[in-house]
Amino acid sequence: MKSLYEKINLGGIELRNRFVRSGTHEGLSPDGSITEDVLSLYRNFAREDVGLIITSGIEVTEDKVFDNSFRLNNDECIKDMKNLVDIIHSEGGKVMAQLFHGSSFIFLEADYVPLAPSAVKDRFTQIVPKEMTQLEIKEIIKRFADAAYRSKKAGFDGVQVQASAGFLINKFFSPYYNQRQDEYGGDVTRRSRIAVEIRKAIADKCGNDFPVFIKMSMDDLMKEDVKGLEFSDGKELAKILSDSGYNAIETIAGVMGETMVSGNYNGGEPFFKEKIVELASEVKVPVIANGGIRTEKAANELISNTNVDGVSFARPFIADADLVKRFKNGHYTKCTTCFQCNGPNGVRCIKNK
Ligand SMILES: Cc1cc2nc3c(=O)[nH]c(=O)nc-3n(C[C@H](O)[C@H](O)[C@H](O)COP(=O)(O)O)c2cc1C
Repeated sequence: MKSLYEKINLGGIELRNRFVRSGTHEGLSPDGSITEDVLSLYRNFAREDVGLIITSGIEVTEDKVFDNSFRLNNDECIKDMKNLVDIIHSEGGKVMAQLFHGSSFIFLEADYVPLAPSAVKDRFTQIVPKEMTQLEIKEIIKRFADAAYRSKKAGFDGVQVQASAGFLINKFFSPYYNQRQDEYGGDVTRRSRIAVEIRKAIADKCGNDFPVFIKMSMDDLMKEDVKGLEFSDGKELAKILSDSGYNAIETIAGVMGETMVSGNYNGGEPFFKEKIVELASEVKVPVIANGGIRTEKAANELISNTNVDGVSFARPFIADADLVKRFKNGHYTKCTTCFQCNGPNGVRCIKNK
């Protein structure tokens, strides 16, 4: 029987256990640099036995979506990133860089018109983006590959492509936000093309053996009568992504501003369990379950009784860097899923000051 605490090879990376820290914006990096606070946070995760740490989202272009986030859009960034990676490795941890493009899902006042598959107003930010030309699509694919190459040079164990929550790749997957008539729009195969091409571009640049994971929304859970990516397509999408060479899939559901996980989201533990279990039983690559896992019992149940290979956590790691040891020693997380960690005064658990 699989165990939470056993060593495993997950998607080509040797991990000391099945715990993953999901990509989580920390807001600790003014001007994109790796500060002492960043080093100390990640060192602590590695010391506290986290198997795989996924960094906060790193924008692959110069566009700025979050304040205080890391950069990997030029070679100058590599040296500091390498220092971060070396520290994590020296503590026995593994780390992936999470790469994303924000599209119209912007958390700052932007002085540019963002790019998107189609010029459809973002229902969360209310921004009307510009429809990308095919040349712009090719350029963004190249930007993902360039950032992956810099990640490899910095020593990261792999990269994760962010394709959930309402960011660019998720928008391509969505029949609501992607209304293109060319080969990047249409059925789920065409809507997934950009992600498939990103996978190939990364392999061409970094080699086939450099691990690339993807975090995807299985179902956009859009409100009212609006049809985003729904689970039947989500499962199909996961199979396409797995066949195209992604080495593991991290699953979440929902798009921010719709019925996405929030303080009062009542999705059971874990959120979307039936969908995760079904999807994991149908794709060939390892699946990491994300969203709403708060107890060792629920994590164990996923690992022991289903095809899920890893469990990932965002808010519980904000509350308790020592989550792995806590669970192992029979203690609970302090996280109550209140979502106030995402407050205006920086990312921190208000219950665990
Ligand atoms: C403060 C905060 C920042 C986040 N930043 C990111 C991010 O940079 N990249 C990402 O993929 N998801 C991000 N997320 C989403 C989480 O990774 C995760 O998918 C979600 O919170 C559900 O997992 P949880 O219930 O364990 O928190 C963030 C969530 C929070 C609360």
